[in-house]
Amino acid sequence: MPEPAASSAAPVFRWARLEDLSGPEVHALLSAREQVFVVEQACAYHEADDLDPVSWHLTAHVDGVLAACARVVDPGKKHDAPSIGRVMTVAAFRGRRLGEALMREAISGTRARFPGQAIRISAQAYLLGFYNALGFEAEGAPYLEDGIPHIGMRLAPAQARPAAPDRSAGQA
Ligand SMILES: CC(C)(COP(=O)(O)OP(=O)(O)OC[C@H]1O[C@@H](n2cnc3c(N)ncnc32)[C@H](O)[C@@H]1OP(=O)(O)O)[C@@H](O)C(=O)NCCC(=O)NCCS
Repeated sequence: MPEPAASSAAPVFRWARLEDLSGPEVHALLSAREQVFVVEQACAYHEADDLDPVSWHLTAHVDGVLAACARVVDPGKKHDAPSIGRVMTVAAFRGRRLGEALMREAISGTRARFPGQAIRISAQAYLLGFYNALGFEAEGAPYLEDGIPHIGMRLAPAQARPAAPDRSAGQA
């Protein structure tokens, strides 16, 4: 397949439940994930698992091409808190800060959908620094998931903003 031409266009984010995606959109999403997590990472595992129907799916398109994606599993399904997973940037789009932009959108969209809740990630251990930089903190010891080293990480709930001071008090 030809490599997509480099583009500085801003990514267009979309949030959708599985049932709101068209057949071709579901195929594009699962195909991209399979290419990275099964083929590239040489890992035979259940990619389109039973959590997809209980997740929000976040996609980032650049010039109309699927360039990155993640999913947010509903609270109570994988962890008590909502959890971000299947985070990936298509190989041809890496190194352009798209993964970081995707994660920032994933965090803000998760907080908007599940206010006041922490966010969990089962992170591939080699990306500890990537998630640390976004505010996640490691919890517990590393473990193997599908033969790949992982570590549990948690992002604390967003701090509530202090109420603005009442400037009317004491004024004439
Ligand atoms: C991890 C991944 C999403 C990063 O995507 P990306 O669009 O290339 O990342 P960005 O360009 O936004 O980089 C953001 C930061 O992460 C760092 N980073 C990116 N890929 C990294 C990697 N493989 N290892 C360590 N750090 C990495 C970058 O150096 C950058 O750090 P900086 O702020 O110090 O410069 C991408 O490499 C990927 O899809 N990997 C395969 C799938 C995967 O392992 N997903 C994670 C599952 S937990």
